[in-house]
Amino acid sequence: MLLLGIETSCDDTATAVVRDGRDVIADVSTNQNEFHAKFGGIVPEIASRRHLALLSAAVDDALGRAALGLEDIDGIAVTAGPGLIGSLVIGVASAKALAFAARKPLYAVNHLHGHIFSAFLERDVGPAYPFLALLVSGGHSQLVHVAGPLDMHVVGRTRDDAAGEAFDKTARLLGLPFPGGPEIDRLARDGDAQAFAFPRHRAEGDALDMSFSGVKTAVRYFLEGAAGRNAPRADVAASFQAAVVEVLLDRLERAARRAPYRAVVLSGGVAANSVLQAAFLRWSEGAGIPAFVPRPRFCTDNAAMIAAAADHQGAARTVDPLTLEANPNLPFEVHPGIGPSTSSTVKTMSGNRSNASASP
Ligand code: KG4
Ligand code: ZN
Repeated sequence: MLLLGIETSCDDTATAVVRDGRDVIADVSTNQNEFHAKFGGIVPEIASRRHLALLSAAVDDALGRAALGLEDIDGIAVTAGPGLIGSLVIGVASAKALAFAARKPLYAVNHLHGHIFSAFLERDVGPAYPFLALLVSGGHSQLVHVAGPLDMHVVGRTRDDAAGEAFDKTARLLGLPFPGGPEIDRLARDGDAQAFAFPRHRAEGDALDMSFSGVKTAVRYFLEGAAGRNAPRADVAASFQAAVVEVLLDRLERAARRAPYRAVVLSGGVAANSVLQAAFLRWSEGAGIPAFVPRPRFCTDNAAMIAAAADHQGAARTVDPLTLEANPNLPFEVHPGIGPSTSSTVKTMSGNRSNASASP
């Protein structure tokens, strides 16, 4: 199946053409960092205006690079949520118009499912089910039990900041530009990760929840204090990064004990982090579980992962172009167009599910 993917949930205007949920034929993305950087974060109004200005050309660009016309495509996959409403609406309205005009099936995709299926891109053989995914982005940090393409449940999540949010906020404290995750990653390479012992969130019992606001606040107080003012910034960055990575790995390890996983996946923007990736790969090798990490381009937001998710989740995903609406608060367990995940697989697992969001 040859799908055109469209992703506009946040600040990347992205389109792609993907074959069989795996082969990336064309991949186009325009990030808007230059427009948001001076505000130190994403300004929703600017993001949606930029999507409006760029999306039509980005669709033509993806099709042009693939040397295909819309008539050659088997369907159109679009992110329906969660994300910024103004941004989502631009992608959803365009996808609906294209699907309606070209009489092509429309697939509505949950953005977070896209991050999970990014693990299948550019691979002959993707992760086998059931697999455990650690999804870490600017908006989410969660552990997901993936029993099948339409059967996924959050088993652990952050109580406060997402890991990427903590990276971005800490980078700001260090005077680094937005987005701060890659900047901290770069700066930390010259730093000592053991220089400062910033606090690590401890989970009680066998809980899988995590928290990153404490470590960010600890860095703030430290930088405001006498010792912090003269501390090498690289050491602060490396010590902060080590604290975040340790918490993520601890929760991953705990989650992996709960089910006989056949693979582990690391995805989302923070998966591009070099120290997290190295720790993840080291751990999975030790545990003897095959590990899948998309290359950095497909860790951060992109449209290829949206086409991949639509392909893997199949025909159940086809929605009516006249009725699809963007949902900025789409819960993880809800498949846009077809409703909540129905499997009971997760109930057979030990531990509690109190952190998983309720499906409406
Ligand atoms: O998945 P993504 O592109 O967008 C969301 O859906 O949120 O993730 C963006 C996040 C930002 O917070 C960014 O700082 C972080 O991913 N990020 C990183 C790295 N590259 C991107 N964080 C740490 N290290 C990196 N190398
Ligand atoms: Zn994302």
